[in-house]
Amino acid sequence: MPLVPQDLYDRLVVVRRDLHRYPELSWQESRTASVISTFLHSLGVQSRTNVAGHGVVAEIPGPAGVPCVVLRADTDALPIQEETGLEFASVHDGVMHACGHDGHTTMLLGAAALLVQEKDLPAPVRLIFQPAEEKGSGAIAMIQEGALDGAGLIFGGHLDRHYPPGAIVVSEGAVNASSDNFTVEIIGQGAHGARPHESIDAVIVGSLMIMALQTIVSREVDPSRPSVVSVGQFHAGTAPNVIAGQAKLEGTVRAQDPTVRRQLLSSIRRIAESIAQLHGAKIQITVTEGTPPLINHPEMATLVRRAATETVGEEHVLPLKTANMGAEDFSYYLEKIPGAYVRFGSQVLGREGYPAHSSKFDFDEGALAVGAAYYRAVAKIAGRQLNQQVAAN
Ligand code: NI
Repeated sequence: MPLVPQDLYDRLVVVRRDLHRYPELSWQESRTASVISTFLHSLGVQSRTNVAGHGVVAEIPGPAGVPCVVLRADTDALPIQEETGLEFASVHDGVMHACGHDGHTTMLLGAAALLVQEKDLPAPVRLIFQPAEEKGSGAIAMIQEGALDGAGLIFGGHLDRHYPPGAIVVSEGAVNASSDNFTVEIIGQGAHGARPHESIDAVIVGSLMIMALQTIVSREVDPSRPSVVSVGQFHAGTAPNVIAGQAKLEGTVRAQDPTVRRQLLSSIRRIAESIAQLHGAKIQITVTEGTPPLINHPEMATLVRRAATETVGEEHVLPLKTANMGAEDFSYYLEKIPGAYVRFGSQVLGREGYPAHSSKFDFDEGALAVGAAYYRAVAKIAGRQLNQQVAAN
């Protein structure tokens, strides 16, 4: 039996290709939002638009007094010039759905189509179409606008080219890493290039700092706990014969464990301050905290494993090979309510070499049916759990 009726699948492919052809950057997803609300309207589902910019929230009713199950998709595209050569390639110059959010949006619409057919949902189901995931700020904005009010549990997922089509990947623990940025401004003393003894060379101080920061992950963090400290920018100087009096480093920090995340940030501060002091320079450190790590709670992982097994069969439910050191702002929802995040196998044979955020990224559209059917299954299983909790109280 197919995962979704053929006519629905055909419709989903049309929607996905339309979204793909007209991608929109973070915070600009207005056309996308109207495609979403039009599709939902055709199912008889009313939606609230302009939530946190161009977010869309819709609810499929269930019994009164039971908290809702939330299903979340992200809707934004990336500033990349598409080079897939697909017939439905982006017509927006320099903008591309290179992370599969067109697919995530479409599978959630598919789930809506399946869920409206259900007679007795055990709990209401809320659909969240979230903007600006790529900026890491859409989820917080949606939460601030009440997207989780009255919600009990939340579920989401991402396409993943590392797994075969038809697979659903479930992890008991970390799925994505935290993402924080830091800036170190070094204030030394500028001088003539020929008179170094009159300077406090900010380039030397910055260089030593960059090298010393490499020892945090290699010498301080438990090697069994994945972490990253990368300095992506180093700006200093104005001329070959002028010793720079100021320099600025900017970097990013990733961790899968909240304790390691704290450790990394405090080590950066300690090392930067020590090196500055060693050379008589002053520094100013700014840390911009971003998304927390995305960690599935074991109990919720068990719940989604059941939904995945029901959807694709046990042999297609795979363990996560390695957690991603990239960030995913779904983690903000999990700070508020329990839930879990899965991955949908979407390898395209012949194109498996093109990763997400590449100009040639594509995914197997069969994943649209898998995602839609999975979300229906998880909404029902989680809904029954919420319903029973209410009944027991
Ligand atoms: Ni993504």
